[in-house]
Amino acid sequence: MAKSMINEQVHSAAAAGTFTIGGDLTVNRLGYGAMRITGPGIWGPPADKDSAIATLRRAIDLDVNLIDTADSYGPAVSEELIAKALYPYPPALVIATKGGWERPGPGQWTHNASPKHLAEALEGSLKRLRLDRIDVYQLHTPDNAVSFEASMGALARLREQGKIRHVALSNVTREHIERARKIVPIVSVQNRYSFADRESDYIVDYCEANGIAFLPWAPLGQAKEAHDAIQKVAKELGATPLQVALAWLLKRSKVILPIPGTSSVKHLDENLSAAGLELPQAAFDELSALSIPPASLRG
Ligand SMILES: NC(=O)c1ccc[n+]([C@@H]2O[C@H](COP(=O)([O-])OP(=O)(O)OC[C@H]3O[C@@H](n4cnc5c(N)ncnc54)[C@H](OP(=O)(O)O)[C@@H]3O)[C@@H](O)[C@H]2O)c1
Repeated sequence: MAKSMINEQVHSAAAAGTFTIGGDLTVNRLGYGAMRITGPGIWGPPADKDSAIATLRRAIDLDVNLIDTADSYGPAVSEELIAKALYPYPPALVIATKGGWERPGPGQWTHNASPKHLAEALEGSLKRLRLDRIDVYQLHTPDNAVSFEASMGALARLREQGKIRHVALSNVTREHIERARKIVPIVSVQNRYSFADRESDYIVDYCEANGIAFLPWAPLGQAKEAHDAIQKVAKELGATPLQVALAWLLKRSKVILPIPGTSSVKHLDENLSAAGLELPQAAFDELSALSIPPASLRG
C-alpha cells in the first residue's frame, strides 16, 4: 500500500473488532483517551476548546464507543467537555472514568484513595458526566497511605449501591488484581504499555487468561521516538510509526483496548486508521522481540 493511502483512509473503530467488558459492555477495540483535551500539564482548559469538542464528536463519528477519562484530568475539565460535546450520549458509548489520584497543580499528582474521598470523587464524576451510574470506574492508582482492601471495599459498596456498573484498576501489579478480585469483580486493568514499553507484559497475559480487558495507557509512547525498527515496518506498510504501534497492540492480545490520546481531529483520524491495519506476523514478531529500556519512552 502506498504511504499516502493508509494515511488518507479513515477507518471506523469497528475495523479493530470488538471486546465485551464485564460480560455486558461490547465496545470496538480502538478507543479514545481524553486526557489530552486539557491545558498544559493536564491542567485547566485546553488552548482550543472548540477543537477538543470537535475531536470528541469526531471520535463518535468514527464509531469509537470506549472513552477513557478521570476526575483529575484538568481536574474536571475532561469529564465536563465529554458531557458538553456528547450528552445525551449514544446508547453504546462506554465512559470509563477514574478516581483516587488528585491533580493539585500542573504536572502534579497526589494520592487520595481513602473510602471517603472515593465516594466524593464518584459523586463529582456522576454530576459532571450527567450520569446515574458509571459504566467502568477505575481506581486510578493504589494509595500507599490507605489499605488497598479499604479502597476496593469502598468501590464494591458503591457498586452495590448502583452508582458503578463495573469496577476496574489502573497502575497495578498482578498481586493488586488478585487481592481486588477477592473483594469485587474486576473488568479492566489500565497500565502503561506499548510495543516498546513492556513492563506489564505479564499483566496482559494475566488479563487475557482471565477475560479482563487491558487498556494500555500511553499506547503511542506519548509520541516519543522509540526505535528504528518501527520506522522500517511503517515504511514497508505505508503507514506511520504511531499507526504501527497501535496495530501491534491490537495484535498482541484480543483483550487489549488501546486508548490513544489526542486533542486534534487530524491525529484522531490518523490513529483510527490503525483499526484496519493488519500487522504481518513477521513484523509483529520483529517488534515483539525488541528489548528497549522503558526510559526511552519516558523522556
Ligand atoms: N491510568 C493512568 O495513570 C494514565 C496515565 C496517562 C494516560 N492515561 C490515559 O491514556 C490515554 C493515552 O495516553 P497518553 O495520552 O498519555 O499517551 P499517548 O496516547 O501514547 O500519546 C498522546 C500524545 O501523542 C500525541 N499524538 C496523538 N496522536 C498523534 C498522531 N497521530 N501524530 C502525532 N502525535 C500524536 C498527542 O498530541 P496531540 O494532542 O497533539 O495529538 C499526545 O501528546 C490518555 O489520554 C488517558 O486517557 C492514563
